[in-house]
Amino acid sequence: MRTCQINPSILSADFTNLERELHRIHTADAVHVDVMDNHFVPNLTIGLPVVQRLNEVSDLPLDVHLMINDVDRWGPGYAQAGAASVTFHAEASAAPVKLARDLRAAGARASMALRPATPIEPYLDMLPELDMVLLMTVEPGFGGQAFLDLVLPKIRRTRRAIDGTGLPIALQVDGGVTRETILRAAEAGADVFVAGSSVYGTEDPAVAVDTLRNLAAQ
Ligand code: DX5
Ligand code: ZN
Repeated sequence: MRTCQINPSILSADFTNLERELHRIHTADAVHVDVMDNHFVPNLTIGLPVVQRLNEVSDLPLDVHLMINDVDRWGPGYAQAGAASVTFHAEASAAPVKLARDLRAAGARASMALRPATPIEPYLDMLPELDMVLLMTVEPGFGGQAFLDLVLPKIRRTRRAIDGTGLPIALQVDGGVTRETILRAAEAGADVFVAGSSVYGTEDPAVAVDTLRNLAAQ
């Protein structure tokens, strides 16, 4: 059985009191922080100063997901800010191998994300440069969207490729993860699950995290 991690997304939390919202997910493995620049995606969230402050007050590791252009330039700053992992989009990077190396050199785990329609195959040779692959299961930009089943075959292909490397590379899915869809994503080979609305949209987010983790481990 694979070890499964649940990383709640604070995109669905109350942005007026993020410190309190972190305590509400104390059962999580990490906190997923969505950085959006209103260019790579049509939405705007938070940037480096807030991530730096979150890192200071959080007991959980920060799993930073950068949905920004010019990520080769801005990405390493998030690693320097103390993020445990920094995810950049392949579509936004001109030099993904260099960026992955820069992130690791700055002390973070290096992670690369793909939009739902971006294939994994052109990136297979760079898997050893990565600590995690994030497969988006919605178009990035907003919480609360429906899980795209069309990504399931890519999750399977990526799992096979990761297993083929023999390296401990995590496979994260993000978008539309619920108590129902997590079963399909886990079965296809994902082992790290981002969940926004299905955690923060419940009465007790800490319990929702445990429920999702138990389902994923089945
Ligand atoms: C969307 C973000 C996700 C989002 C997921 O672009 O990357 O992390 O918060 O939200 P849910 O779980 O509600 O789909
Ligand atoms: Zn995300």
